[in-house]
Amino acid sequence: MKITLTENKKKKPDFAKLGFGKYMSDHMLVMDYADGKWGEPEIVPYDTFKIDPATQILHYGQGLFEGLKAYKTADGKITLFRPRDNILRMNKGADRLCMPKLDVDKILSALYELVKTDADWIPTTEGTSLYIRPAMFCTDVFLGVKVGATYRFFIAVCPVGAYYANGLKPTKIFIEDFYVRSSIGGTGDIKCLGNYAASLIGQEKAHNLGCDQALWLDAADKKYIEEVGSMNIFFVIGDTVVTPALSGSILPGITRNSALQILRKDGYKAEERKISVDELLEAHRSGTLKEIFGTGTAAVISPVGEFIYKDKSYTVGDGSMGKITEYLYDKLTGIQTGKLKDEYNWVVNISK
Ligand code: COI
Repeated sequence: MKITLTENKKKKPDFAKLGFGKYMSDHMLVMDYADGKWGEPEIVPYDTFKIDPATQILHYGQGLFEGLKAYKTADGKITLFRPRDNILRMNKGADRLCMPKLDVDKILSALYELVKTDADWIPTTEGTSLYIRPAMFCTDVFLGVKVGATYRFFIAVCPVGAYYANGLKPTKIFIEDFYVRSSIGGTGDIKCLGNYAASLIGQEKAHNLGCDQALWLDAADKKYIEEVGSMNIFFVIGDTVVTPALSGSILPGITRNSALQILRKDGYKAEERKISVDELLEAHRSGTLKEIFGTGTAAVISPVGEFIYKDKSYTVGDGSMGKITEYLYDKLTGIQTGKLKDEYNWVVNISK
């Protein structure tokens, strides 16, 4: 594949103070679709895109994205966590948004090349990784609403630390009971741009109440818990871990799936089912609500220490990170960073 290296390497940020999504690396991958087929992927110096104001994506939002991570292990290997699952999920989104599908193997090889090209951007400080952002959007220059004929796929990478400003400190979530993120038959189960635009108002309401994120309820009854928008959500009630079942309006998170597999293999009871706010409040009232945590590529395993529903605040346990949350965080990040054995074949070593 064609690789054009930059002549102006950027100054690296302090890898101990990364935050999330602020520093883009030196290179990116670009691939265009025209005349009914994808062209060849190319690695080029990281740069802006020049875009016509009438480009479809700016008006009608036919676009998708993904998020995955690369790590450098203590013995110097470069690894990725379940990368194929991200590209497969992107293809599901492409079906839903009438966009062309990607050749999974070709994209994975190109992605590995990009990560190797910018390997010096993979941070190794505890809790850090290289965040990989594949995305695709319609590039047709036309103001009528129709399925596009031209697309751009690209991948940008950036070194990241914790998604939440307070790191692993338990977050506070706000249960949104007016606006909805998605409904059955909508686009909640794919990573399309509009889902995130629609979720911003909940996030603003959450921030105004001193919370980190909004927790979304189902659109039909505003009764059942769905997800947080940047992460899936889990509850420990009694001795059982419960997460909302994939109803069709919830993102099928890869970290969500990994958490379920780890919990079940390690002997925990883990259920995927409907869970209502009433059940949550009752569990809190009776003292059986032990822990809440979120899962996501960016969020990893994030403890939730408090939630707000209809102007009332509820502390989860004693407000600190719960035992199962901590167990899962250690196990998942241990597998991801190569400190623990990967019994699942999730980790792909690209440095061979
Ligand atoms: C991820 O976890 O990678 C996501 O895509 C969430 C993102 C909105 C930060």
